[in-house]
Amino acid sequence: MKEQLAKIKSEALAAFGAVASPAALDELRVKYLGKKGELTAVLKQMGRLTPEERPAMGALANEVRAALEGAIESASKKLEASAMEARLKAEAIDVTVPGKPVKQGHKHPMYSALDEIKDIFVGMGFTVLDGPEVELAELNFDRLNAEEGHPSRDWSDTFYFDEDSRVMLRSQTSPMQVRAMDTMPLPIRIIAPGRVYRKDEVDATHSPMFHQVEGMVIDKNVTMADLKGTLNLLAEELFGKGTVTRFRPHHFPFTEPSCEMDVQCHKCGGAGCPTCKGEGWIELLGAGMIHPNVLRMAGIDPEEWSGWAFGMGLERTAMRRFKIADLRLIFENDVRFLEQF
Ligand code: PHE
Repeated sequence: MKEQLAKIKSEALAAFGAVASPAALDELRVKYLGKKGELTAVLKQMGRLTPEERPAMGALANEVRAALEGAIESASKKLEASAMEARLKAEAIDVTVPGKPVKQGHKHPMYSALDEIKDIFVGMGFTVLDGPEVELAELNFDRLNAEEGHPSRDWSDTFYFDEDSRVMLRSQTSPMQVRAMDTMPLPIRIIAPGRVYRKDEVDATHSPMFHQVEGMVIDKNVTMADLKGTLNLLAEELFGKGTVTRFRPHHFPFTEPSCEMDVQCHKCGGAGCPTCKGEGWIELLGAGMIHPNVLRMAGIDPEEWSGWAFGMGLERTAMRRFKIADLRLIFENDVRFLEQF
């Protein structure tokens, strides 16, 4: 029996040491330690031993069982470790392989121009306002001193939502003047950029949707000189020191006096070229001193307060700022065009 045990032990240990898979290991475990296993079979013969022989043989049997169990344990650990190693090898990532480049976008040139404009005005203490594109005709026209019958109210120019022409896509950012007067304490310094809509056919300089930036100041003793000083500074900041501007008389219902500001052509320096259509000047914005009627309708006393306002086309400004010839390029979003900025 002693020899039997020794034989089982040495055979089993050799077998466990060489085992190659968890399934094979399990088979071996059953073969030696299972209910019908070899060691179990030997132990079953213990009954035949004399009481004197039994303790020593029992101890030996236990030692063999412990040795086998230990061998199983370490074989199973070895299998686990090599399985993990194989998996790590199979799933290895080569961090030195160059990555696939991700195309990174950047800001649209028009929004870069808008950011510059915002920075300039925020630096002068202005607040940036946002407002609705679907607007009441009351704010877009009536409150801006453009009464019934004003040509800009015509259905051929404006997108209305209803038969009685009360709700519309705003045709200018100027209703933001009224919204600011109605909601903000005086004095007021605001700019309000956003989309506006007019029934225009698309061409090199027109689009039914475009962007404006409205600007307005209301304070005591505000004059046309403040307007000109501020807008000249804007032109220099946007287009470079020494940029020459020109103010031409104009008409808007909500400003009096009204003007348009031109910037001397950056291409020809005023001599006249295709960019400025031979004029030497490029129109940039409309502006003026806020009409007393507009102040009065907002409950502001024009004897005590005065103000100025301007509205500039953002696409036009971006076109000038980045020397873009055709408005359509701004909206087409062709990456070959956009990548240049
Ligand atoms: N709203 C005018 C336009 O769209 C521009 C403007 C704004 C003029 C403010 C004067 C004052 O043409």
